[in-house]
Amino acid sequence: MKTVIGLDKLRATRLSLDGIIGLVLTMGFLHEGHLSLIQRAKEECNHVIVSIFVNPTQFGVNEDLSKYPRDLERDLSLIEPLGVDLVWNPTPEIMYPTGYQTWVEVEAITRPLEGSMRPTHFKGVTTVVAKLFNAVQPHKAYFGQKDAQQAAVIRQMVRDLNFPVEINVCPTVREADGLAMSSRNKYLEGDNRKAATILFRALSAAKSAYESGERDAEALRVKMKEVLESESRAQMQYVSCADYDTLEELDVVKGKTLLSMAVLLGKTRLIDNFVLG
Ligand code: PAJ
Repeated sequence: MKTVIGLDKLRATRLSLDGIIGLVLTMGFLHEGHLSLIQRAKEECNHVIVSIFVNPTQFGVNEDLSKYPRDLERDLSLIEPLGVDLVWNPTPEIMYPTGYQTWVEVEAITRPLEGSMRPTHFKGVTTVVAKLFNAVQPHKAYFGQKDAQQAAVIRQMVRDLNFPVEINVCPTVREADGLAMSSRNKYLEGDNRKAATILFRALSAAKSAYESGERDAEALRVKMKEVLESESRAQMQYVSCADYDTLEELDVVKGKTLLSMAVLLGKTRLIDNFVLG
């Protein structure tokens, strides 16, 4: 497995690889969720490239970029056994050199949900993903359902800008008690870690109501709120029952639907979602 930092080395190595190239984009501090994307890419592609880059432009001014967990050595030791060909770990200066001034912005679909809480986030995500796609030129890229809106935004960007990249969205990997794996879970301690299962429990309650025939979207949102309110440590930011592709809130559930939520536990912000239909 080769690890490169500079763009020239990345391009030279990329050009030496034939066949279908799969890209898994990450900010490092890898867990089973990330590794599941790499495994899926490995099954479907001739060569797999993993990017590790903590992208400063997707962090808001109040979100602590400097505290984002990092451990490159550990990440590389987790990726190595999976048969990854190349790891690209660029520096912020390589991605955003002095004088940088070009941005990719997707409109309506970035406004609700995460966009309503983190107004500059998706501009940073779409810009860095476009740059990573341009630099690596993969045939396929792999994203997690865990970040449902991110995946929807990237699908929209790829359609709108004619990127020749197939977007694959892979299932959310969870801890045994249902908590979705996330690099941020490391900040959950003691009672907050136990309380963190409230997201999975709220989503499960809404899903069973749906499976029992409930199609009123507001009733599903209320169900999720009620469960969240039963956990005094959890501070709800939003719950949503929206169209899977447009992320517009629904009145009546029909077709593919996204149940999603964001919750604060202490200072740790957690998101999770289920797909219905
Ligand atoms: P990061 O949070 O490191 O996540 C990298 C990829 O792993 C994303 O596609 C994310 O959805 C996926 N992922 C995270 N947790 C998961 C889980 N429990 N199960 C399955 N997949 C999971 O998302 C980003 O980085 C960045 O925004 C990035 C796309 C790299 C752009 O900077």
